[in-house]
Amino acid sequence: MYELHIADADAFGPAAADLLLGLLPDACLGLPTGHTPLPLYAELRRRGAAAWRLVMLDEYLGEARFQAWLREAIVAPLGIPEERFLPMPAAAAPGACEDFERRLRTWGGCDLQFLGLGANGHIGFNEPGSERDSRTRVVTLTPATARANAGYWPNAPVPEQAVTQGIGTILEARRHCLLVRGAAKAAILAAALRGPVTSAVPASFLQFSPALTVVADSAAAAGLGR
Ligand code: F6R
Repeated sequence: MYELHIADADAFGPAAADLLLGLLPDACLGLPTGHTPLPLYAELRRRGAAAWRLVMLDEYLGEARFQAWLREAIVAPLGIPEERFLPMPAAAAPGACEDFERRLRTWGGCDLQFLGLGANGHIGFNEPGSERDSRTRVVTLTPATARANAGYWPNAPVPEQAVTQGIGTILEARRHCLLVRGAAKAAILAAALRGPVTSAVPASFLQFSPALTVVADSAAAAGLGR
């Protein structure tokens, strides 16, 4: 079961941002990077300063690029202090992933985890084959994901590996919001929400979410039927 909000163009960011209205002021939010959430972050910047705690979803291995991106897009503009921002480790130091999970547990977990959707069904960087009980770990990006991400930083090659919250970690959030834009994601969104739950489509594990809201534009929602 999921709740679907269809929002096009300028309505997309406000529709996603409105999900925060029912949360406590210091709610813990999990945040993705990528193209899809840009209107959400623009809207949150427009709404101004907040007391949220922010948790990263994933990061490239060896380069804290997504952390820098999130700091610029939302952490700094909203005035979130350092102690309210939980970065994903960019180094494969022993225990780094376990330490991230421990800190997330200390924070009480995410109240609302925002997610984008990969064209191959990934959430975070849980590529096809990722299991339901996977935890925060180092993963290898598929060539398709590396190609899709090449546009984020055109002058810097995409690292082969990343660090991501696992599916099991993501599912521990109390609520999830899947953000999806564009016709190219319509088929995979339908497979994730209406198809069988399978590690071949990692986003299908969101069918186990305790509360899933999908914010999609009409092009992405075209495969969902009524
Ligand atoms: C990035 C992330 C990825 C993206 C996905 C879609 O932090 O978690 O799962 O959400 O690759 O990327 P865009 O939004 O650029 O299409």
